[in-house]
Amino acid sequence: MRSSARGGPRVGIVGLGYMGLGTGLAFAARGLTVFGYDMNPEIRAAVARGSTPYHEAGLPELLRSQVRSGRFRVVHALDDLVRLSEGIFLCVPTPPRADGHIDLRPLTVAAEEVGRAIGRTRGYRLVVVKSTVVPGTTETVVLPTVLRSSRRTGRTVGVASNPEFLAEGTMVEDALHPDRVVIGTSDRRSEAWLTRAYRPFRAPIVTLSPSGAELVKYSANAFLALKVSFANEVGRLADRLGVHVDRVMEAVGRDPRIGPKFLRAGPGFGGSCFEKDVSAFVATAGDLGVRMRTGSAALRANAEQLEYVLEFMRAVIGPLSGKKVALLGLAFKAGTDDVRESRALLIAERLVAMGALVRGHDPAAAGSFRRAWKSRGRRGRGRLVICDTLDEALSGADVAVLQADWPEYARWTRARSRRMHLPLLIDLRRAVDPRDARRAGLRVIGLGAGDIANVKRGSVSRSTG
Ligand code: UDX
Repeated sequence: MRSSARGGPRVGIVGLGYMGLGTGLAFAARGLTVFGYDMNPEIRAAVARGSTPYHEAGLPELLRSQVRSGRFRVVHALDDLVRLSEGIFLCVPTPPRADGHIDLRPLTVAAEEVGRAIGRTRGYRLVVVKSTVVPGTTETVVLPTVLRSSRRTGRTVGVASNPEFLAEGTMVEDALHPDRVVIGTSDRRSEAWLTRAYRPFRAPIVTLSPSGAELVKYSANAFLALKVSFANEVGRLADRLGVHVDRVMEAVGRDPRIGPKFLRAGPGFGGSCFEKDVSAFVATAGDLGVRMRTGSAALRANAEQLEYVLEFMRAVIGPLSGKKVALLGLAFKAGTDDVRESRALLIAERLVAMGALVRGHDPAAAGSFRRAWKSRGRRGRGRLVICDTLDEALSGADVAVLQADWPEYARWTRARSRRMHLPLLIDLRRAVDPRDARRAGLRVIGLGAGDIANVKRGSVSRSTG
C-alpha cells in the first residue's frame, strides 16, 4: 500500500464543519498528513488562515499548531485533495427531513464528486463515511455512487463506515482521545488502512460490517438521548416529591451497570444530533418493520420537557404575559456557539407568544441565535432583544432563566442581583449554588431540585419582590 513520503497514511477531509475539522486536526496531531477541503470558500479561507469558524475550546490553538507543523493543509480543489490523500473522509452534513428521515443529497453529491476525482487519479483510494447515516447507506448508496462515478472496481477503491462520536464543547479532547474507534468495512484492505490510520490514537478498535458500524452510531445516540429523557422525567417526579434530582441520579449512576454520565436533568436535549438521529433511527426501524418504542419515548419525553419547563416557570412567577425575562445561555449547551435545536429558541418563542419580554444573553452564541431567530421569521419582533452583556440582559428583569450552564453564570454577585427588578433565578440546569446565590441576594429555584414542591403557585415573585 502506498504511503506518503513522511510515512503513514495520508488523510483527506471533505467538509470542514465541527466534525470534519475536529477529525482532521486530531489525525494531524497524531502525526498523520491531512488535507482539508470544504465546498464553502469562506470556510476554506478561514481555516487556511488558522481561524476556526466555530466557537470550540482548544480548537483555534490546535488548528494553528497543526497548520504550523505542516501536517494539516487546506486545499482549494477537490481534485487536489483526492490526488494527495489515500483515505478520503466524507464529513458533510446529513440534515433532517420533515418525515424524520435524513437528507442524503449533500452526501451523495460529495460521494459523486469524490468518485469522479478518483477516476482521474491512479492508485488505491478509500472513501470513508464519517457523516451520520442510517444503517445500509454506506453499502447501498455511497459504494455504488463512488464505483459508478470513478469507473473503478472494488479492487482499487474501498468504501467504509467510520462513525464519529465527538461532542461539541469537548471536541478537541474527544477527537484526540476517543473511547473507541468503530470501523465498518466489507474488505480487508479498507480495514487494514483504517486500522493503521487510527493506530496512533491507542484506542480500542471495534470492527464490524458497514451497516453494523452505522448501527453503533445510531444506537449510541438513541441510548444517550434516552438517558437524558429518563433523567428529565425523574426530575419532574423529584419536583413533586420535594427531592433533588441530582442527588438521586448520582446514587443511581453509581451502579456501574448504569454509569454516572448523561443523567443530568435539564430543559431537554438539543443540538444537531439527538433529535435528528433518534428520529431517523425510529423512521428507519419502522421501514424495516421494527417498532423502536424506546427511541419514540425519548423524543416524546423531550417534547414534553419543554411544556414542563414553561409550566414550571408559570408555577414560580405566575402568568408570563408582560414579564421581563432574562434568558441566560442561548446555545444548545454551554461551551459552543451552536444554537441548532437549542431549547433557548423554543423557550424564547413560547415566552414571546405568551406576551413576555425576553432579553437573551450568551457568551458565545449571541450572533448565531440572532441569525437563527431571524431565519425563523422574526416572530414577536421587538419582544426579544439579544444583549451583548449579562448586565444588560438582567437589567429590570422580573426573573432570569438559566438555560445553558456557562461557568460565568455560576459566579453570581450582589451587583447582578441589584440590576434585576426581582432577584430571582429559575435554574434549568441547577448550575448556581442556592446558598452562594442567597449571599449575593438572589433566590434560586432549580428545575428538578424539589424546591417547587413548597412554592405556592406564582407566589415567589411576590415574596422575592
Ligand atoms: C452528541 C453526542 O454526545 C456525540 O457523541 C455525537 O457525536 C453527537 O451528538 P452533542 O450534540 O455535541 O453530542 O452534545 P451532547 O453533549 O451529547 O448533548 C446533547 C444535548 O443533551 C444537549 O442539549 C445537552 O444539554 C443535553 N444533555 C446532555 C442533558 O440535558 N443532560 C445530560 O446529562 C447530558
